[in-house]
Amino acid sequence: MSENNTNINWYPGHMAKTRSQIEQDLKLIDVVIELLDARIPKSSRNPEINKLIKNKKKIILLNKADMADDETNKKWVEHLSKEAPTILTDSKTGRNIDKVSKKIDAVMAEEIARQAARGRINKTIRVMIVGIPNVGKSSFINKISKKNSLEVGNKPGVTKAKQWIRIGKNQELMDTPGVLWPKFESNEVALNLAFTGTIKDDNLERVEIAYELLKVLMKDYRANLMERYSISGEEMKNIEANANPAYELMKLIGQKRGAIVSGGVTDDEKVSRLIIDDFRNCKIGKISLERP
Ligand code: G4P
Repeated sequence: MSENNTNINWYPGHMAKTRSQIEQDLKLIDVVIELLDARIPKSSRNPEINKLIKNKKKIILLNKADMADDETNKKWVEHLSKEAPTILTDSKTGRNIDKVSKKIDAVMAEEIARQAARGRINKTIRVMIVGIPNVGKSSFINKISKKNSLEVGNKPGVTKAKQWIRIGKNQELMDTPGVLWPKFESNEVALNLAFTGTIKDDNLERVEIAYELLKVLMKDYRANLMERYSISGEEMKNIEANANPAYELMKLIGQKRGAIVSGGVTDDEKVSRLIIDDFRNCKIGKISLERP
């Protein structure tokens, strides 16, 4: 987990500064690429994104699609495509990254045709990535730049600070992404951001996070849990008959994995870390935490 992803404090002043910086950058941009975490497309969305980009053309990438379950991924693509063209990407391996450039051309086709009719041909399409921390913006930019030719370099007269990366014929990507603030609207969103590591967890909260994660997984990915932690059907039924099944499950996983302190009592802190790490490393399987 890259430290700087998770430690940003979004106080109101910082949000206002970010907003105006992005509004400034957007003046240079034809197409916005909104990166979401495929496991939590709702929770990983900035609450003001559409207000910010106004009527700019947009493409949605459901990144980390490799970590989410395939069936739910499909449903999200169907759902989000009503709003903007949506692609499932994996910025770690580069899967589907090559589809992005074609989509950019597709969303700009009308505009390009209009300009061509006015005699303006070969206009460069300028693209920018936006998203909350940890959705994979840097990884995406890294991957797409490796797949393509060299950076275009500074453009005097456009802006001194911005570098542009050529990502397709007549397409350039701003090398710095727009880092947006996450939603803070509900406990559910906060938990989803904690599960996926967008909000940094400290020792105090880790047990709570693992406990809440187990609740969600018991509901939707029961079989995955049983397989990962070698839990028999009978053991699972016993746990579920309990008043606090998620905590019972945590204790059982602790026992099975040797996360215990002297006297055989579960080491809550240790087992919680183990469960969270397993989830983030996809050891429990491909897991989608939100459905459309
Ligand atoms: P950001 O710029 O939006 O903040 O995100 P960044 O690219 O830094 O990615 C955050 C973490 O997510 C990184 O892992 C990165 O490797 C991982 N990641 C990004 N895109 C994908 C993807 O499509 N699939 C998978 N499986 N992982 C992705 P990290 O733990 O910080 O570092 P490391 O694992 O790369 O060492």
